[in-house]
Amino acid sequence: MSKDAVLTSWDETHSSLWGNMPIRLAHNLHKSPLFSMDTLARLIEQYPREHYNLVQTGSRESRRVWREGDFGNLSGRRVIDAIAAGTLWLNLRNVTDVDQRYRAVVTKLFEEIAAVVPGFEMPDHTAGILISSPKAQVYYHSDLPGQGLIQLVGRKRVYVYPATPPFVTPESLEDIALFGVEVDMPYAEWYDRHAVVYDLEPGQMLHWPLNAPHRVENLDTVNISMTISYTDEAIRRLQMVNFTNGLIRHRFGYRAKSRAIAGPVFLAKRILQKLLRNSAWIRRERKARQSVDFRLDDHRPGDIVDLPRAA
Ligand SMILES: [Fe+2]
Repeated sequence: MSKDAVLTSWDETHSSLWGNMPIRLAHNLHKSPLFSMDTLARLIEQYPREHYNLVQTGSRESRRVWREGDFGNLSGRRVIDAIAAGTLWLNLRNVTDVDQRYRAVVTKLFEEIAAVVPGFEMPDHTAGILISSPKAQVYYHSDLPGQGLIQLVGRKRVYVYPATPPFVTPESLEDIALFGVEVDMPYAEWYDRHAVVYDLEPGQMLHWPLNAPHRVENLDTVNISMTISYTDEAIRRLQMVNFTNGLIRHRFGYRAKSRAIAGPVFLAKRILQKLLRNSAWIRRERKARQSVDFRLDDHRPGDIVDLPRAA
């Protein structure tokens, strides 16, 4: 790695482990002005509504809550203050499309990895910035794309589980591909005995094997992190298989056995997936699982105001 590299402590063991085991790496993005509070406050103010999610979660002690909301007319600073005072979680999705400065650093990061991991070619990639409350958490889930987590401000505990049953099953991946909702996966506390647990600090980054389930607890500080997400041809094909297998199971009660990403069965699934990915059934099922139902209170930082339920 060169002197101005984003990744600052890469060694050959990382080249061998990448994608096969969870690994913790060192980076220098926490020192970049792109992630200062002032820059982020301005970014929030200009962020297109369709590209962010504001989620209220339960605190670590309380029951499970997962609601979507809006930050209304608050300034970027006030949004960050609200997050500092509440149990909220703001995801500025696709920051790499919204602002080219972030695309440049994330592309550089992937170029550095592609240069040192045999067989890892430059994938399609995106990134999102997560700003979350001191007691916020992200529940147990898997993601379909390849994923990494870059810690910029604050501390969080990340549990990474094996990417195999019972921790993640084909049915769970199929439901994510079909409905686009990642947080309904079965989870039991004893799973934690099989997790790799990291307390992540600014300047550290995690990467884990494809589809490995994970959950996150903030360690009593406001957290700013960036998730990187990438897709190559194999991952794209797996997503098509997950989608079609899920559709066949939900609509016809038939469990497809093949998860092949090449050959005639795969090709048939690819055609089915293209035909049905925007069908009325899919749109209805997805809509039923997603809604925006609060906005931030203008006067009490961290509080929320319920929005009337849409029909
Ligand atoms: Fe995730």
